[in-house]
Amino acid sequence: MAADIVYLNGEFMPLAEARIPVLDRGFIFGDGVYEVVPVYSRHPFRLGEHLRRLQYSLDAIRLSNPLRDEEWTKLISEIIARNSGDDQAVYFQVTRGAAPRAHEFPAVVKPTVFMMSNAMKTPPREQVEQGVACITASDLRWLKCDIKSVSLLGNCLAKQLAVDAGAVEVVMFRDGYLTEASASNVFVVRDGVLLTPPKNHLILPGITYDVVLELAAANKIPCAVREVSEQEVKTAQEIWVTSSTKEVLAVTTLDGRAVGSGKPGAVFRRMHALYQEFKQTVMRRAA
Ligand code: PDD
Repeated sequence: MAADIVYLNGEFMPLAEARIPVLDRGFIFGDGVYEVVPVYSRHPFRLGEHLRRLQYSLDAIRLSNPLRDEEWTKLISEIIARNSGDDQAVYFQVTRGAAPRAHEFPAVVKPTVFMMSNAMKTPPREQVEQGVACITASDLRWLKCDIKSVSLLGNCLAKQLAVDAGAVEVVMFRDGYLTEASASNVFVVRDGVLLTPPKNHLILPGITYDVVLELAAANKIPCAVREVSEQEVKTAQEIWVTSSTKEVLAVTTLDGRAVGSGKPGAVFRRMHALYQEFKQTVMRRAA
């Protein structure tokens, strides 16, 4: 297999050759933002939406976008072409660049732009058919979770709790209400109604979250975007996690207890099929 080719500050190179200065503020302060775009059959999925969210994150950390959307689009096409595999997950990040260590922003600094592509690993068939285990935890992160920041220590600590418990994700609550999981958004089904918390500063505005809500609306699956209490999650008939890499995945045990029947529910199966169909249609149109 060809060496992974990455992009760093204007150049493509093998991953092993990519270097950044140790004073890069991404390294020192976690001062940067990122995106992960799924690529199916070599076509990026919902790229416009990912680029819009990147702009939102950059604005939120007061960093100007180093590239125009057309330039991002071109680079992303190029990295897809330079890497093997039809289905990829393209990761790109912008940090505030290298400067002497001081918390305040440097007066003049060149942002660091890094991009790589990994093989896209959607959940294995068994996970789709059987669902996955999750645990719950308090959401200990900051109050700007809408920024897709590379400062992910809170998310990493949460995810490790799940891994330590033999689970796939951790469903988090703040002040008794559902926020999201460590690297995915969360939906529940109660009495046939799909529920998910509103997009605000407490969660990442997921691109997959939007797709799921659009598909629910288009297919007359009753849904409501509102605060969801911890009690409502713990007694829901279905729980799902969604993300660009997990797509839509059913949670069948929460803290060791069965969710609903302990099998992926009927609403999940419908949404999973709709999501796959939607992906195929979009990709056929792009081809
Ligand atoms: N994570 N919430 C958090 C905290 C996330 O990190 C992610 C995605 C999501 C889902 O967003 P989207 O549907 O746009 O992928 C929600 C990515 C995949 C990651 O960090 O690898």
